[in-house]
Amino acid sequence: MRPNQLSIFLTVPGLTLASSLLFKGGTIIAFDNQTESLQVIRNGSVLVTDDRIETVAGPGAPIHITNGTEVVDITGKILAPGQVNTHFHGWQTAFKTLGSNTSLVEYFSRYGEFAAAGLLSPEDVYVGQLAGILESVNGGVTTVLDHAHHTWSNATAEAGLQASVDSGVRVFWAYAFHNITTITPNFLVPEQLANFRDLASNASFRGSATEIGIAYDSFGPSPNVAEVNAIISLAEEFKVPVITTHSLQGPWGIDNSPEDLLNLGIINSTIPFVLSHASFLTASGAQLLRTFNHYVSITPESESHYGHTHPHSHLIQDQAAIGVDTHFTFSSDILTQTRLWLQATRRRLYGEVLERWQVPDNNPMSVNQAFLMATRHGGLALRRSDLGIIAPGAKADLVVWNARDSPSMLGWNDPVAAIVLHASVGDVEAVLVDGKWQKKGGRLVAEGYYTAFRERFLASAARIQNKLIQTSSEFPRVGDVWPASGLPIGDTLTVDTLRGNGTGYGGTFLVVDGAQ
Ligand SMILES: *[C@@H]1O[C@H](CO)[C@@H](O)[C@H](O)[C@H]1NC(C)=O
Ligand SMILES: *[C@@H]1O[C@H](CO)[C@@H](O)[C@H](O)[C@H]1NC(C)=O
Ligand SMILES: *[C@@H]1O[C@H](CO)[C@@H](O)[C@H](O)[C@H]1NC(C)=O
Ligand SMILES: *[C@@H]1O[C@H](CO)[C@@H](O)[C@H](O)[C@H]1NC(C)=O
Ligand SMILES: *[C@@H]1O[C@H](CO)[C@@H](O)[C@H](O)[C@H]1NC(C)=O
Ligand SMILES: *[C@@H]1O[C@H](CO)[C@@H](O)[C@H](O)[C@H]1NC(C)=O
Ligand SMILES: *[C@@H]1O[C@H](CO)[C@@H](O)[C@H](O)[C@H]1NC(C)=O
Ligand SMILES: *[C@@H]1O[C@H](CO)[C@@H](O)[C@H](O)[C@H]1NC(C)=O
Ligand SMILES: *[C@@H]1O[C@H](CO)[C@@H](O)[C@H](O)[C@H]1NC(C)=O
Repeated sequence: MRPNQLSIFLTVPGLTLASSLLFKGGTIIAFDNQTESLQVIRNGSVLVTDDRIETVAGPGAPIHITNGTEVVDITGKILAPGQVNTHFHGWQTAFKTLGSNTSLVEYFSRYGEFAAAGLLSPEDVYVGQLAGILESVNGGVTTVLDHAHHTWSNATAEAGLQASVDSGVRVFWAYAFHNITTITPNFLVPEQLANFRDLASNASFRGSATEIGIAYDSFGPSPNVAEVNAIISLAEEFKVPVITTHSLQGPWGIDNSPEDLLNLGIINSTIPFVLSHASFLTASGAQLLRTFNHYVSITPESESHYGHTHPHSHLIQDQAAIGVDTHFTFSSDILTQTRLWLQATRRRLYGEVLERWQVPDNNPMSVNQAFLMATRHGGLALRRSDLGIIAPGAKADLVVWNARDSPSMLGWNDPVAAIVLHASVGDVEAVLVDGKWQKKGGRLVAEGYYTAFRERFLASAARIQNKLIQTSSEFPRVGDVWPASGLPIGDTLTVDTLRGNGTGYGGTFLVVDGAQ
């Protein structure tokens, strides 16, 4: 507390002291909730009081500040809402770069929740989860919906929750219910229900930016109705903010579809469902999402990397937000995902015209649409109209893009296009969650402990990577069937990038020194 704040406090007894922050002189990407559209304010100001945005104003508007207000000049820079990542598994950071050319079929046998159960201690989960979230916030993400399937024991569950709390980021930590029988002792759903109760009742997590949700991947096909009902009752009892599920229909057979939720009689729940991927969503499934206001999390890089793909996701963007998924295999930021998604959607819809041997006349998707999917839609997926926007009353989850000094943004006019198509995460100068600095002057605020934390994480990652590299995994190959759907495994054409003999795919490359 500064002396001048103290004096205000003393003259107004009983009033809790507010902390306030004024951004001035920059371009603000605000949101007008009357017109549901972005509103660009040049040379504007944003006043933050505690965890909320109090005022959003144009140039010259009077703003009431006190002596304790921290004034931040953002001339030449862009103030934008923080990005919302609606699908993530923070604990997996330690696998980084090991799955660069993996497929989903291999993933389950090697990196997934069941395969990895014996590999990570509570310490490994803690540091992996924290490293993953810090990586996200460094790139401008302020809200993360974490499908937390590191729930292999009471201790690993608590470790991941504690890391989420300690990150300071707005984490919707969704406890995964699943039978873990790959390790001893087994960790089964009934024990998990009791563990969830303990964690969710523990007052020590309240008051942080983390909230506890639920993740469950067995809504269909062939659900265990009693188990589903137990989980939904628990969700309702604890008023969880979200339930999330992996939905991969079509050849994948891991449905968890809107139709499954309908058949179970739970689609009308007051709790929002977030269906990650929604690969092979049907037209009627999409209508159910609209009727009951549940969202899809499109994870463009993941769905390309692993091959679940997103054949119809471009048609459900009115009920869709953006997610990352397994950040150990690729980017952890929503900017990259959004750019990939925008351009992939454009290519697909142009392609439909070209397939008819015609020439496309207009661009099918705008940067404004992409920007809103990365921010506002994430809030809507969680039924939080105060997230992912800059407006009075909204949460102060903010990003300052250094559009003044960034060579790649030099010459920008439209700030939305500047971010969506030209910026990189290196241009994220500052991030706030709940009005508190998470990144400032281009450095994580966690910097104070990050150096020591980095060593702690690297020790854990080395342990895990060494074990994993020495482990070969069995997974279905051509000639086998995919257990979830009974469909055959098909061969994928691998490309040839080398002149003459060989393809350049694996080959040998020289590692000069193992040290980072
Ligand atoms: C920005 O607005 C302030 C008043 O709020 C004014 O003093 C200043 O000259 C303006 N800057 C520019 C570049 O227009
Ligand atoms: C604010 O600061 C000014 C100058 O430092 C001082 O004169 C004034 O009394 C202060 N006001 C309050 C409310 O502390
Ligand atoms: C967990 O195991 C129990 C007992 O075998 C079973 O009834 C239940 O359906 C299983 N749940 C899941 C999600 O596999
Ligand atoms: C995990 O927590 C639950 C709920 O408190 C408890 O019933 C169970 O015995 C715990 N498991 C272990 C192995 O301690
Ligand atoms: C509540 O959480 C705190 C902080 O993580 C932990 O120390 C304590 O053991 C927890 N209590 C229970 C009953 O789980
Ligand atoms: C949802 O619909 C079922 C009938 O399908 C009904 O029993 C239940 O009360 C409804 N729940 C809510 C929250 O409206
Ligand atoms: C618009 O935002 C204001 C302030 O946050 C809020 O009171 C109002 O309900 C919002 N309107 C809509 C349509 O969301
Ligand atoms: C390429 O492969 C063919 C057939 O195996 C072989 O005859 C030829 O020598 C190879 N060329 C080179 C440059 O290795
Ligand atoms: C991926 O490529 C590496 C070489 O970069 C190779 O060692 C590995 O076997 C490949 N993995 C798969 C699943 O093809």
